[in-house]
Formats: sequence, structure tokens, C-alpha cells
Amino acid sequence: MPQIKFYSRPAVPMEMHKVKIVQQLNLLPIRERLAKIKEAGFNTFMLHNKDIFLDMLTDSGVNAMSDNMQAAMLRADDAYAGSETFFRMRDKLEEIFGIANVLPAHQGRACEHIIAQHFVKPDSVAIMNYHFTTSKAHVTRLGGRVEELIKDEGLVTKSDLPFKGDIDLDKVRACIEKEGVENISYLRLEAGTNLIGGQPMSYENMKAATDLAREYGITTILDASLLQDNLYFIKVREESMKDKSIREITRMIADLFDIVYFSARKFGFARGGAILVRDEALFHEMEDLVTMFEGFLTYGGMSVKEMEAMIVGFDESMDMDVISQGPQFINHCVNALDSLGVPVVTPAGGLGAHIDARQLMSHIPAEQYPAGALTAALYLCGGIRGMERGTMSEERNADGSERIASVEMIRLAFPRRVFTLSQTEYVIDRVKWLCDHKDLIGGLRFVHEPKTLRFFTGKLEPIGDWPEKLMEAYIRDFGEDQ
Ligand code: F0G
Repeated sequence: MPQIKFYSRPAVPMEMHKVKIVQQLNLLPIRERLAKIKEAGFNTFMLHNKDIFLDMLTDSGVNAMSDNMQAAMLRADDAYAGSETFFRMRDKLEEIFGIANVLPAHQGRACEHIIAQHFVKPDSVAIMNYHFTTSKAHVTRLGGRVEELIKDEGLVTKSDLPFKGDIDLDKVRACIEKEGVENISYLRLEAGTNLIGGQPMSYENMKAATDLAREYGITTILDASLLQDNLYFIKVREESMKDKSIREITRMIADLFDIVYFSARKFGFARGGAILVRDEALFHEMEDLVTMFEGFLTYGGMSVKEMEAMIVGFDESMDMDVISQGPQFINHCVNALDSLGVPVVTPAGGLGAHIDARQLMSHIPAEQYPAGALTAALYLCGGIRGMERGTMSEERNADGSERIASVEMIRLAFPRRVFTLSQTEYVIDRVKWLCDHKDLIGGLRFVHEPKTLRFFTGKLEPIGDWPEKLMEAYIRDFGEDQ
């Protein structure tokens, strides 16, 4: 959807939907928020939703459903085996991706579990443009390694490169030659590359990388969880693709890969996942893992109601009006923050706005989790829940030292069709306030540190009494009650 033009004032991004059902929000006074973030161990994953004003933790499973998605849920066909709902889902996926072999799984990481279980051997190497937390954890759990071969420019925060998710083809070739082709488990390309700021890959790069893998006989896998944003960016940023429809682009991308999987908590606006396997024999080999870990082959751990909703969601993801809204709101937020001097990842990607905490919080050592501290501070000063994406989200090295993340960010996700422009303006305002008071923010240290995926359930404490000092400054500007 090209942005709607305005007559008397600068245009703003437009919601191409109207509100039919609402959920009341609650903004706790700041003193109560301080108590809540302390209880949560300064980890926003551990907050209760009722204590949050704007939940921008993720878009996963919290995108708004459409009327048509909800209506479709009523016709779900409940059966342990052979549900009509599954066959409708399979047919829709075949129509969109051109692959008929569909393995259902309860969410994205369940797909990753099954894929890793099949392909990853000890000491093998999975090549990726960039890792996602769960996609890497499944590889390392099985004794494999991940090589992230994104182009160097992809990690530069402030940039005008349109496709920062692109993989470096020279690095891929060098890696295959060094490791030996027999030691490569697969090439996994992630659309809408999550951890570097929801940054897209170009079709041209996906094609070149999969061609290279095919030259060596390496299996190619697309993580399509964030494909909808990537489709939008290919359409508006890749010159050679601008006259293609979203459906055509989707099909051209899918045709490059042996396997396509996705989290339907993102792609499809519902809750679930699926793996599409081009090769019939491979598909049958992987089936056993679905029945063992997920459920029978016609539901894979998903509710059939969610499957019906997601079938409609897949079609909606092929609609430029629907998929434009997220990137356009994010672009509005990122540009506003940028012009206010907040260090943000540019160009704006999909998924959310990303603030560079390494740059903003240079007074906090990397081992004291600058992005984690900023995330806790934003909840305290605004009731906004973002997500740390940096060193806290990494696992320690074998010797117990910190593995310092290559990017240190706070992510403010924009679940699709959920927030309005005035809520977005509030977020911009509170982030700017924090930016102007950053020197009041200090570091964090773990008091309970799980070994795996510690960012989910770990508990931390502030180093010093900075949360109290920050709160006092906030109260001076905004009063006690907000
Ligand atoms: N791949 C990508 C690119 C993802 O962003 C996610 C989830 C997954 C796989 C795993 O899917 O959550 O359904 O198991 N990303 C969420 C997020 C958690 O908040 O970005 P899942």
C-alpha cells in the first residue's frame, strides 16, 4: 500500500483496518512499576501482562486477528487424525509456497528442533546469515556449531543499506572449503533477520546463496517466520521486483529452498508452526519426529481452531495493505527517534524499532548488560515492555566468561494491527526522556542465571540504587501517578 496522501499536513502511516474488539489497558503509577520490575528480577520476560501498559516484548502470538480469522475458527474440524482443517491448511500452503509436503509443529522452535534433530551431527556446522536464539540453541544442544556469515555491513547500526540481512557469499564459500562440505549440516537463511533489527534479505542474495549451496549439494532452509516483512521490503526496495505481486515474490523465494519452515505465531498471525519439505523421501523420514515430539501428523501440537485462523492469516500475509502496516509504523517510530538523536538501527526494518544500547549506554560495561538495564528502565519510565537483544541473550563461553554479543539492542516490537499512532507517539516520547536521562541508568548482574536461554527466566539486580534515582527524576517531570 503506498502511503495515503494528506492535503493539509504531512502524511502519517495509516491503519488499513478498524477496531472491533478492544482490551482495556492499565498504566500503573511509577512506584508500583518499580515494585513490579524488582519482583521480576529486572527481566521484562518475568513481568505480568496486567502490570504492563504497552507490551512491545514481541509480535509472537500477539498480533491482532481479523474478523475473518476469528470466523474461520468456528469451522475447525476436531479430529485426532485426518482433520479436514489440516488438509485445508496443507492446500493453502501448497498454493502459496508450491510445496505439498507439510509437517505441522506447535511453534517455530519445534520446527527447529525437528530439523536440527534430523540434520545436525556432533561437530557439524550450520551456516546462517545470522542466528536466532532458538535456532542456534537447537544446533549447539546436539553438538553442532553455527557460523553466522552475514555481510559485515549488516552489523553496522546506522546505515542506508536496504538489505542488511544479506549473507556474504565469499564467506560462505570459504567456510564450506574450510570445514569440508561433508561437515556442513545445512544453509539456513532467515528472512527479516530478527536479531540484527528485523533486517531483510534481498531476493537476489537468497538466490545467489542457495545456488552456491546447491553447487555443493548442501540442503537449503528458509526460516520464513518474518517473511511478511521481508516481502514488503523486497517489493518496495528491490528494483527488479517492484512489478511482481507479493504472491509471485513469495513463490519465487520458496522455489529456491529445499525446506521452508515458520513460526505461525508470526507468519499467519496465529499460534503454531509448520515445516514444508520439498523432497518426498526426506519428508517421510522427518515424519517420525513429528509424531514423537509434536503430535499426530494432522495437528502437530496445534489447536485446529488456530490452524483455521492461520489459513486466513496466510492469505492476509499476501495482501500488501496488511503487510505494509508494521513496517510503516516502525519506520515512523525509527525516523522520529533518529531525528531526536536516539541511536536507532537504520534503515528501519520489520518486527520493531531497535535502539542501539551499546552506543547510548556507553557508560555501562558490556558485562553489566546495557541493553538489559535500558529495557528495565523503559518499563519503569513508561510501563513499556521491550526486549533485551544483546549479551544477556547470549550463552556464556565454555570457560564461564561472557560472550559479548555483536549487537547490543533493545527491541520495541510492533505486534501487527495492535497499537495506534498515538501509542507510538507516547513510546517515542518516553524513549527520548530516557535518552536524556541515560546517565542515571546503571548496570545489572545476575542473581539467578539459568544455563540455557538465560534471558527468558534469569533474575538480576541493579548495581547500586539507580532505579530509585531514575524514578525520582521521572516523578519530578511527570508526577507520581504516571
Ligand atoms: N525464527 C525466528 C526468525 C523467530 O523470530 C522466532 C521467534 C523463531 C524462529 C521461533 O519461533 O517463538 O514460535 O518458537 N521469535 C520470537 C520473537 C520469539 O520474539 O522474536 P517460536
